[in-house]
Amino acid sequence: MSAASSPEPDRDCPLCPRLHDFIAAWREREPGWFNAPVPTFLPPEGEVSVKLLIVGLAPGLRGANRTGRPFTGDYAGDLLYGTLIGQGLARGEFKARPDDGLELVGTAITNAVRCVPPENKPVGAEIATCRTFLKPTIARFANLRAILTLGSIAHQSTVRALGGRVAALPFRHGGRQEAGGITLFSSYHCSRYNTNTGVLTEEMFVNVFKEIAAFLKS
Ligand code: URA
Repeated sequence: MSAASSPEPDRDCPLCPRLHDFIAAWREREPGWFNAPVPTFLPPEGEVSVKLLIVGLAPGLRGANRTGRPFTGDYAGDLLYGTLIGQGLARGEFKARPDDGLELVGTAITNAVRCVPPENKPVGAEIATCRTFLKPTIARFANLRAILTLGSIAHQSTVRALGGRVAALPFRHGGRQEAGGITLFSSYHCSRYNTNTGVLTEEMFVNVFKEIAAFLKS
């Protein structure tokens, strides 16, 4: 498979020089950390079982960039994985470690940008470049029915990856739209900032997942 059609970047992916350099600096500082593009988290039943894809923003510095698994090791993961378990989309116990044995059920989790960005803020060119991997990630799931995007950046990049127009498919919390044959759900990002400021409550987040779980059963 050529680099352009691979759903996973190389460990030393050079496509975004700023992110490559940032990770290189953290490899020096914290050699025990993962410090590389974070791969998509898959269920044990494999990609054919995936009906729902969750798209986050980018790895957190001390979260996924440290542990190597999306949303693992920072606050956003506590809320996300707790909610997934509650709705039957994951099983086991989430202990914020990649070896905690937590298993996804019919669900995969990826990020719009695979490398940790400084200040948690990828720039437009990085988001566009990393769509090189988001597109084949979406395409690899033959039985995909729904995508949940967390936050407006993930939403917009996913709309573009599906061949849609952002102006026609705007982000809104609780949104449900059709794009490229997929039902696209959207939520505010489950970051600590959003929950601390009341932008997103646990109830709002759980309600999005209840709607998705019901959709997947229909
Ligand atoms: N961790 C991730 O992997 N993605 C996010 O968007 C936030 C935290």
